[in-house]
Amino acid sequence: MVMRAKARDMAGQAASGGASGAIAVLVIHGPNLNLLGEREPEIYGRTRLADIDKELKQLGRELEMKVETFQSNSEGGIVDRIQKARGKCDVLILNPGAYTHTSVAIRDAIQAVSIPVIEVHLSNVYRREAFRHHSTIADIAHGRIMGFGAESYSLALRAARTMAEESRRRSG
Ligand code: DQA
Repeated sequence: MVMRAKARDMAGQAASGGASGAIAVLVIHGPNLNLLGEREPEIYGRTRLADIDKELKQLGRELEMKVETFQSNSEGGIVDRIQKARGKCDVLILNPGAYTHTSVAIRDAIQAVSIPVIEVHLSNVYRREAFRHHSTIADIAHGRIMGFGAESYSLALRAARTMAEESRRRSG
């Protein structure tokens, strides 16, 4: 598939362009995700963001990966963090929250830094309102994981490892 091949190339570029040694992953959480645990728990679950981040870092240690996490309620904050990751990280795990459905700026930032992205959502957006069915980054993401609550993130981290390893193997 064309999209997969392109994402693979991008993974290779990021790995050889800056990240060496442990696979480096940046996890970005978008707006309102700082309220996880309290916010609509029937949709998003009762796990707090701090606990998700802690668990991801723990899993990262087990998988010998470097995991950084970041949350912002502002679109510009997310764009700035993506730009800062250029050449320094192998894979981005990104839950853009509501910006998923509207942000051209986040899409452009991803394309500008050429870091492969795994799009993550706690909820299955296709079981929800129609306006959540559109994602501005779906067609440039390497893959998408959604609907597993907090576990969506750990599934993404495992996928990121496989993806980065494959890309490093390919680029020798
Ligand atoms: C979300 C889904 C979005 O539609 C919503 O705006 C969010 C969270 C999710 O993780 O399920 O803030 O990205």
